[in-house]
Amino acid sequence: MFYPDEVIEEVRERNDIVDVISNYVKLKKSGSNYVGLCPFHNEKTPSFSVSRNKQMYYCFGCGAGGNVFTFIMEYENFSFAESVKYLAQRSGIDLPDEDYSGEIKRENDLKSRLYEVYKAAANYYYYQMKTEQGRKAYEYLKNRELTDETMKQFGLGYSNIYSDDLYRYLKSKGYEDELLNKSGLLTYDEKRGVHDKFWNRVMFPILDVHNKVIAFGGRVMGDGLPKYLNSPETIIFDKSRNLFGLNFARQARTRKFLLCEGYMDVIALYQAGFQNAVASLGTAFTSQQASLIKRYADEVFITYDSDQAGTNAALRAIPILKEAGLSVKVVNMRPHKDPDEFIKALGKEEYQKRMDQAMNSFLFEVDVLERQFNFEDPEQKTKFFQETAKKLCTFEDEIERSNYIEATARKYHIPYEDLKTMVNRYGASLSNVNQYNTAVKADRESSKPHKEADGIKQSQKILLTWLIEEPEIYDKIKDIITADDFKDEMYHKTAQLVFEQFRENGIVVPAAILNQFSSKEEQNEIAALFNTGLVGEINHAEKEKAFNDTIHKVKKFSLDYESSRVTSIEELQKIIKEQTNLQKLHISLQDG
Ligand code: GTP
Ligand code: MN
Repeated sequence: MFYPDEVIEEVRERNDIVDVISNYVKLKKSGSNYVGLCPFHNEKTPSFSVSRNKQMYYCFGCGAGGNVFTFIMEYENFSFAESVKYLAQRSGIDLPDEDYSGEIKRENDLKSRLYEVYKAAANYYYYQMKTEQGRKAYEYLKNRELTDETMKQFGLGYSNIYSDDLYRYLKSKGYEDELLNKSGLLTYDEKRGVHDKFWNRVMFPILDVHNKVIAFGGRVMGDGLPKYLNSPETIIFDKSRNLFGLNFARQARTRKFLLCEGYMDVIALYQAGFQNAVASLGTAFTSQQASLIKRYADEVFITYDSDQAGTNAALRAIPILKEAGLSVKVVNMRPHKDPDEFIKALGKEEYQKRMDQAMNSFLFEVDVLERQFNFEDPEQKTKFFQETAKKLCTFEDEIERSNYIEATARKYHIPYEDLKTMVNRYGASLSNVNQYNTAVKADRESSKPHKEADGIKQSQKILLTWLIEEPEIYDKIKDIITADDFKDEMYHKTAQLVFEQFRENGIVVPAAILNQFSSKEEQNEIAALFNTGLVGEINHAEKEKAFNDTIHKVKKFSLDYESSRVTSIEELQKIIKEQTNLQKLHISLQDG
């Protein structure tokens, strides 16, 4: 971390979580908490709760939770450091200079100057479209049915017919050749001198998630070649880690994304009210792009071109998206070429219908497979079913597999049992037999110990929540439970911090503990540790029983765990003694 702990804690304390979140979410007081509609998932009844005492939020619906930094990270998609900066500014705190090494500092300087150059260039192109020569670019886009508002929203522009006007403009702004040479917007040639890379094209700026211009695409107006020219990769532009339109899509507040091929598709979709579209821009879709999407979405609708190339690209993208944990559907654009042309021809309502009818990616794959076989020929038909059965074997989860067998059988009118038998036969005989068996076996075996482990974790969560909500119980358990009873690494670290704060200050500030974790995922998980209550109203006796059960469960698990790892008979005897004592242990929740 770049800033000292005290500074981070000061920033946190000066930004009351209820005040900060109120700027984003309408909150209503309810008991000691505030509740509202969760901004991180779609809901109609509020399950998002903010606690002024804990200085934390938690959504009982989707599990999002954390302190004020987590909220800003999740909502604005900032890194931890960015959210610290943002909140420091909000509360008028001057942060000390970040502690960078010389090398990182030089690279950051170059980056921020390249951002400036790209921003200046984007402005230049934007205003060129308003000039006399720029009129044809404007007309071109009007012809493609873009409104003035859309052009402005995407900052579309025009690169002029002069061979070095951008160069002269940037020089006049004081940018030196050494920097401009690194921008990729100009070509430096010994004989011919310096020239603008883009000439007489409609310009599409590519923005990153922080709305900074990092690259351009330029399209010829008409049929020239290349149709699109893109600026090269630089230290601020890594093609495989960016998506056109992501800056808007991430704010669309829906966990569904549309994935298309081209600039114009994203723009046309946006204009039609689908602000959740992104494009991979002609290059092969990468796993980095998939994980980028996963930060903002759970479901992806592939809406590629309807031609063979688009179909092939979709078939390549599907496993990459699924690997990233996204659920995938494919939208059919036929008889039109792409979303842009589809919407122009049929309108947004029809497009929405196509989305509603989008095909599950597995069925899409089978559909494509089907087209390769002639069903009139029994031999080919059999081959198709064999191929499909092979594909069905790849579902590791038994229930999922049987659901897909059922769907496929229904669609192609094969008796379910026949297809199932075929799948099982492949499962047993194909070369992936081992992989398949391990998967099925793991499936069968994992269910029981899994549930037990979940139960232990649940008790650990309840105990941690209890400790911070009713600090007086610390004294009752401090000789029985320690941080070492929490075996999971993150639980252990959290418990350590909790116990340490009790020992040193007699009180715990849970929101401060979160500062120790810098990823959103960790913070969500820890917020859950501090927000696990018992369900429903309970009386004193019930509460005491629940409390003792929790302590027993946590301690028993810990002792069992230790006993399986002892190296000497003395240690074992000690644990057995503790186990016996535990059976007799009862803690009264009455005072004193
Ligand atoms: P329009 O004809 O303007 O509607 O373009 P499109 O988006 O329908 O074009 P297409 O489906 O042909 O291409 C999809 C994407 O691939 C484009 O948005 C570009 O990002 C990229 N692309 C297309 N042609 C070229 C090219 O000639 N060179 C490069 N580098 N990229 C291209
Ligand atoms: Mn197109």
